[in-house]
Amino acid sequence: MDIGATTLILLVTCVSCLLLFLSGKGQKNRGHLPPGPRPLPLLGNLLQLDTKDMAKSLLTLSECYGPIYTIYLGLQPCVVLCGYQAVQEALVKQAEEFSARGDLPVVFRVTQGNGIVFTNGEKWKVLRRFALQTLSNFGMGKRSLEERIQEEARCLVQELAQTQAAPFDPTFLISRATSNVICSIVFGDRFDYEDRNFLIFVGLINQFFRLLISPWTQMYNLFPSPMSYLPGPHNRIFENFEQLRLFVSERVKMHQESFDPNCPRDFIDCFLLRMEQENQDPLSYFHMETLVMTTHNLLLAGTEPASTTLRYGFLILMKYPEIQAKVQAEIDRVIGRHRSPSVEDRVLMPYTDAVIHEVQRFSDVVPMGLLHAVTRDTQFRGFLLPEGTNVIPLLFSVHKDPTQFKDPATFDPAHFLDERGGFQKNDAFMPFSAGKRICLGEGLARIELFLFFTTILQRFTLTPLTRPEEIDLSPLLNGFEILPRPYEFHAVPR
Ligand code: HEM
Repeated sequence: MDIGATTLILLVTCVSCLLLFLSGKGQKNRGHLPPGPRPLPLLGNLLQLDTKDMAKSLLTLSECYGPIYTIYLGLQPCVVLCGYQAVQEALVKQAEEFSARGDLPVVFRVTQGNGIVFTNGEKWKVLRRFALQTLSNFGMGKRSLEERIQEEARCLVQELAQTQAAPFDPTFLISRATSNVICSIVFGDRFDYEDRNFLIFVGLINQFFRLLISPWTQMYNLFPSPMSYLPGPHNRIFENFEQLRLFVSERVKMHQESFDPNCPRDFIDCFLLRMEQENQDPLSYFHMETLVMTTHNLLLAGTEPASTTLRYGFLILMKYPEIQAKVQAEIDRVIGRHRSPSVEDRVLMPYTDAVIHEVQRFSDVVPMGLLHAVTRDTQFRGFLLPEGTNVIPLLFSVHKDPTQFKDPATFDPAHFLDERGGFQKNDAFMPFSAGKRICLGEGLARIELFLFFTTILQRFTLTPLTRPEEIDLSPLLNGFEILPRPYEFHAVPR
C-alpha cells in the first residue's frame, strides 16, 4: 500500500471511529462466521493483504485458514471461498442463497441501485431476464450476433494489415473492437475506429477500470461516510462515471427521436418499447434511469474482460509459437484461408477450442469474480453467514486448483483435451463464474473470443519483439482484474 493511501487511512480512521460509535453499527450480530486472520481495529486485515496481488494473497491465506475463512476489509467482514469444491458448493449447490451482489459503496453511489450488475432482488431478476432475452433475440431475424462479430473481426484485420508488420501495441485497438461489438448490439451500429466520440468513450471505459482498482477508490469503499465529504483523487471515478452516463443518455435521446415501436433496432429500442408497454404500471422497473444504467453496465462489462483476454491470449501465443502454429494448421484444415470463420467451425476445431479455454483459465482476467453476498441467513459448512454477508468467490483459486488441473501453473492446452485429442470439458473452468450471477454475456463472449482469435490467426502470424523465452507472462496487476504486461508485436501477413 502506498504512503498516500496509508496517510489517508489514518485520517479517515478517526472520523470513522466517531461515526461508528455514534451509529452503533459495530454492534451488529455477526452470526457464526468462519475463522480467519485476526483483524486490527478499524483497518481489519488490510495490512495483511498485498493490494497489488490481492487474489494471490487471499489464496496464500487459505493455506493457513482452509477453503473458507473470514477477512475484514476495514470494518466489513467478508467470507472468502477458495478452491473448486467450496466455490461450486456455494455458487451452484446453494445458488439462491449466494446470488446477491455484495456491497461496494463506490458503485452504489453511482448506480443508485439501478442496472443489472449491482442490483439485487426482484429488480435484478427482471432486468437480467430482459437483457438475456433481448441478447438472444439478436440471433433471429435481422443481423445475428455472429454477423456483427464477423464484421468487427474483419475491420480489426484491416487495421492490423495497415501496420505492415511494424511493431504495434494492440491494447487500444482491441478495446475498440470488443467495445464495438457491444455498441452494435446496444446502439444498433458500430463506430469507425477513428470516430472522435468513440475514442473518448473507449478511453473513459479503460479509465473507469483503472480507477475502480485504484487505492483511493478502495479507500472510499472501506470508509464511505467520511470519504464522501472529502475532496481528493477518490472523486475522479465519479467524474468519469458522469461523463459515461452523459454519453449513454445522449444516445438514448437520439433513439427516442427516431423510435418506431413496430421496428426495434437494438437493445435501447427494445427497452424503450418495454417502457412504453409498462408506462401505466407504477411498479415497473423499466424507466429512464434503469435504461441508462443497464446500457452502461452492458457497455462496460462487454468491453474490458473480453479485450484483456484477447490481449493476454496473443501474448501467450507469442511465447509458445509451436502452439500458435498448431492453431493455424487447424484453421487452415477446417476453414481454409478464404472464408470468414464461423461459430459452427468450433466443434471441428478441438485444439483451438482447448487453447482458448486454456487462455481463459491461465489469464484469469476477473480473478476474484465480483463481490457476492448471501440473500438470507445461510448455513454453509457448519457456519452461519448472516443475511447480507459479503462473499468473495476466488475464481483464481479454482483455476489454480491442483485437484482439478494437472499442472495449474503451466499453460497447457492438454488441460482441455482427452487422450485422443478431442475437446474435454472441465467443470472447474469458471472464468465467467457460476450459479445465478454467472456472466450474462458468456455466450456472446465465447463467440467473440473464437471469431477474433481465428480470424486474426488465419491472416497473421504474431511475432514478439524479443525472443519468446524472454516474454514474461506474469500479470502486471492482480486485483479486481488481471492485466498482462504491456507489449508490442509484429502482425506478419501469412
Ligand atoms: C471474456 C469475457 C468476459 C469475462 C471473463 C466475464 C466475466 C464475468 C464475471 C466473472 C462476472 C461476475 C459473475 C458473478 O458475479 O459471479 C461477470 C458478470 C457480468 N458480465 Fe461478464 N465477462 C465477460 C464478457 C462479458 C460480455 C461481453 C458482457 C456483455 C453482455 C458481459 C456482461 C456481464 C454482466 C451484465 C454481468 C453481471 C451479471 C449479474 O450481476 O447478474 N460480460 N462477467
